[in-house]
Amino acid sequence: MVGGSTPSGTAIRPIPLHGAMFSATATRAPPITARSSARLDPNGHGFALNLLNSEWCKIAVRLSSYEFCRFCNLPRFQIFTHMPDHSAQEPAMFHVANDARFWDRIARKYAADPIADMAGYERTLERTRHYLNGAETAFEFGCGTGTTALRLAPSLRRIVATDISSGMIAIAREKAEAEDRANVAFEVATPDAAPWPDESFDVALGFNVLHLVAAREAALNGVHRLLKPGGLFISKTPCLKEMNPLVRIAVRVMQVFGKAPYVAFLSAADLEREMAAAGFEIIERARHASRGRDARPFLVARKR
Ligand SMILES: C[S@@+](CC[C@H](N)C(=O)[O-])C[C@H]1O[C@@H](n2cnc3c(N)ncnc32)[C@H](O)[C@@H]1O
Repeated sequence: MVGGSTPSGTAIRPIPLHGAMFSATATRAPPITARSSARLDPNGHGFALNLLNSEWCKIAVRLSSYEFCRFCNLPRFQIFTHMPDHSAQEPAMFHVANDARFWDRIARKYAADPIADMAGYERTLERTRHYLNGAETAFEFGCGTGTTALRLAPSLRRIVATDISSGMIAIAREKAEAEDRANVAFEVATPDAAPWPDESFDVALGFNVLHLVAAREAALNGVHRLLKPGGLFISKTPCLKEMNPLVRIAVRVMQVFGKAPYVAFLSAADLEREMAAAGFEIIERARHASRGRDARPFLVARKR
C-alpha cells in the first residue's frame, strides 16, 4: 500500500498495488528532477517513484496516471520511463577511460563467448569482402579480440585494428601470433586520436561499436580524416531505439551497477544522419540477422 498527501496538503487515498492489472507502458514522461528516492507526485495523480536520478539521470521510473479497474475497483498503473540521452553533455574522456576499464575486465569472457548468430556474421563478412580486392589498406576501430580483422586479413593488403581496451588488444595479438598473420597490426587507439596521417586508409571498419562511442561526432570525423577520398566506411551497429524498450531500461539499470558501458540509444536514421554530417554518402544498407527483427543495420558509406 502506498499513499499520503501531496505537498499542498491534498489527501491522496492509499493505493493498493494491484499486480494483476499492472500495465507497463514505455512512454516518455516529463523530466523528473527531484533527487528523493520516493515522493508523492505533486500533480496529485498518484505516487512517484524516482530511482537513482543521479547526475547522469541513470534511470527514473514514475508510477502515475492510475485508473480504476472496472471489475474489482482497484487501481491499475502505468509505468513511465524517463531516460534522456545526455551523451552530448557528458565528457567523452570520462567514458573512454571508464569504458576501457569495463572492456578490459570482460575481455577474456568476451573472447570465450561464441558468436550468437554465426550465419548473420558470415553474411556481414561476405558483403564486406565484396568491396575488397586484396590491395586495400584498412583501419578498424572497436576491433575487440580481433576476430573480424583476422578473418578479413587475407582479403586485404594490410589492416590496422584498434580498440580502447588494452585487454582486448592483448588477446587479439595472441590470436594473430597463433595464426601467424603478418599483415595485421593491433593497437590501442581511437579514430579521433589516431596517430596516422590524413588519408592513410582505403577502408575503415566499425562493427558493433558505434553505439558504444559517446564522442561519435569526433569518431566519425576521425574516420573521415583517415580515409582516402572515395574511401569506404563499413559498419554494423546495434540500434537500441529500434529494440524493445525493456532492453533500454535493462541497460540503464546495469549501468547503475557498473555492469554495462556507455550505450547510445540510436536508430538507423540517427546513424545515417550522423554519417552524412561527417561527410559520408550511404551506398549500401542491409540487415544480416538470420532470425527475428534485426536492429543492427549494416551500412556501407563512401567518403564524399
Ligand atoms: C561489442 S565489442 C565489439 C567487438 C568486435 N568489433 C566485434 O564485432 O566482435 C565492442 C568493442 O568496442 C570497444 N570500444 C568501446 N568503446 C569504444 C570507443 N569509444 N572507441 C573505440 N572502441 C570502443 C570495446 O573495447 C570492445 O572491444
